[in-house]
Amino acid sequence: MSNHSSNTPAGKKRRTTISDLAAMKKRGEKWSMITCYEQMTASIFDEAGVPVLLVGDSAGNNFLGQENTIPVTLEEMLMLSTAVVRGSSNALVVADFPFGSYEKSPKKALETGIRFFKEAKVGAVKLEGGKKVVPQIKKLVASGIPVMGHLGLTPQSVHALGGFKVQGRGDDAARIIKDARALQDAGIFALVLELVPAELAAAITRELEIPVIGIGAGNGTDAQVIVWTDLMGMTQNPPKFAKAYKDLRGQITQGIAEWMKDVSSGVFPGADQTFH
Ligand code: KIV
Repeated sequence: MSNHSSNTPAGKKRRTTISDLAAMKKRGEKWSMITCYEQMTASIFDEAGVPVLLVGDSAGNNFLGQENTIPVTLEEMLMLSTAVVRGSSNALVVADFPFGSYEKSPKKALETGIRFFKEAKVGAVKLEGGKKVVPQIKKLVASGIPVMGHLGLTPQSVHALGGFKVQGRGDDAARIIKDARALQDAGIFALVLELVPAELAAAITRELEIPVIGIGAGNGTDAQVIVWTDLMGMTQNPPKFAKAYKDLRGQITQGIAEWMKDVSSGVFPGADQTFH
């Protein structure tokens, strides 16, 4: 077998690649990315055809019971990413570098990237920040690890930013534009823009050659990303930019109540769920 072989059986779809995403930008085709933290939802989102699954460090506040993303560890992200890769076969899986796993040096970032590639087998990684992480991005890209950037509201810097606030209003727009250019020049394949004015996100999307993915950034970007628990009505206090397409929290609560009632009354398990 040559080292170009994919082991993909005839007829089976392969995973989305970063070249597919670049081609979609060229064709003006909008696409979606959704967060994902384990294998069950990975298989559902993958079957639904979502091209990119993001193992976001939003797992901290959506899955691990943390107040924000800062306490999330590399070991936790590796475990979640491994499960998402195992549960999917068509999507590109992108893993977030957690706080503390890349800031110190390009060497540290590469060590983290190697663990995500070898242990979790993700197809790309994402890290937060502008100019200051350019050396880390260059090191990763030169080593064959595709990197997605993240600007605007970067949750790992929530304390420095003074809370979860819109970024890039007024004169601050110039800083974000500069950072976006620097990240593209460093070699990122796509950029997340979080919580920035729609006009700024649209202008950056027009200027950059790489795909720009918005969250709370209006509808002028090439793609959208959302936290799946916000999208499906699981989150109790969702952010203003999220729209709940279903009420899973309500449906699960109702289903649990019905089951408990049937257990109390002796209706469950019934004949169909019983062995003799
Ligand atoms: O961690 C995450 O879920 C993210 C998205 C909100 C972009 O970074």
